[in-house]
Amino acid sequence: MWDTIDNVTKELKGFHPGTQVEVEEFRVRMLGRKGVLTRLFDEFRNVDPAGKKELGKKLNLLKNQIQETLNEHKERLSRTETGKSRTEDMTKPADLLNAGSRHPIAIVQREILDIFRKMGFSVEEGPEIEDDWHVFSALNFAPDHPARDMQDTFFINNDSDNPVLLRTHTSSVQVRTMEKQKPPIRVVCPGRVFRNEAISARAHCIFHQVEGLYIDENVSFADLKQSILIFVREMFGSSARIRLRPSYFPFTEPSAEVDMNCNICGGAGCNICKNTGWLEIMGAGMVDPNVLKASGIDPEKHTGFAFGMGVERIAMLKWQVRDLRHYFENDVRFLEQFQSGLL
Ligand code: DAH
Repeated sequence: MWDTIDNVTKELKGFHPGTQVEVEEFRVRMLGRKGVLTRLFDEFRNVDPAGKKELGKKLNLLKNQIQETLNEHKERLSRTETGKSRTEDMTKPADLLNAGSRHPIAIVQREILDIFRKMGFSVEEGPEIEDDWHVFSALNFAPDHPARDMQDTFFINNDSDNPVLLRTHTSSVQVRTMEKQKPPIRVVCPGRVFRNEAISARAHCIFHQVEGLYIDENVSFADLKQSILIFVREMFGSSARIRLRPSYFPFTEPSAEVDMNCNICGGAGCNICKNTGWLEIMGAGMVDPNVLKASGIDPEKHTGFAFGMGVERIAMLKWQVRDLRHYFENDVRFLEQFQSGLL
């Protein structure tokens, strides 16, 4: 008997089942009705009383050891088996939701509008598909005026005397506003515009503008200059400077082109400012009396200023992006860099 006990003890030490089935087989072989231990207990009955006490102790101990070993393996295997069927790691922190963000052009457009809102301007919008009257004629472009060539137009229907086209600038919204509102008028008009231009780092056939218009009694060029200066400083910081160069637009007289000191090279000269230290940021001027008249406003009583800027251009200067095309390609690696925090 002692030999059997030794063998079982050895076997128990080396027992390392890989499956629950092996555990169960071992249990039946040891503790089952015809199992080794059952047989040993049977034999135990006939053992000489002298050695009975010690043998009895040993048998009970062995039975307990077998039972414990079986329990341990059972538990270990059930742990790894559930581990196998679960492919997720339940302790891993959850993935963050990939929330979208505002497009950089939308962020800048909103910032531009907010600055002017604080100055008392309200926001007006108009259609992208426009007619010749609102884009050109009412803005003092004569029918065969060469200035029409300044902007290469996408025509939708060029047959009638008021062709339908994609607006080339948001100045059309000033006309629509003047047609329906009486002065004082103080509006900013954001929107998409379209021009038949070759796409490059500096130009695109679709882009965004914000137009501004202020009409009241006694509005002067000084008001224009100061409003633009306040805008530029709000947008680019209090050390930003502007300069106005005489220019020509059919809808303003006098007209100016507004430059800001180059914030990319700091004025030293770079390929963005074409080594001048200055960047053109918008066109502006005093609304031409013909434009006021065309929209039913008396130019003897009212004067006004207007300006128009490209949103992509302001965004390029703000973030020092050197290629306009990034704004249209929508590569998330680019877009992710402009989290506004305001969805
Ligand atoms: N509409 C002009 C353009 O697209 C920009 C512009 C210039 C708007 C002068 C204005 C202005 O209101 O006064 O190039």
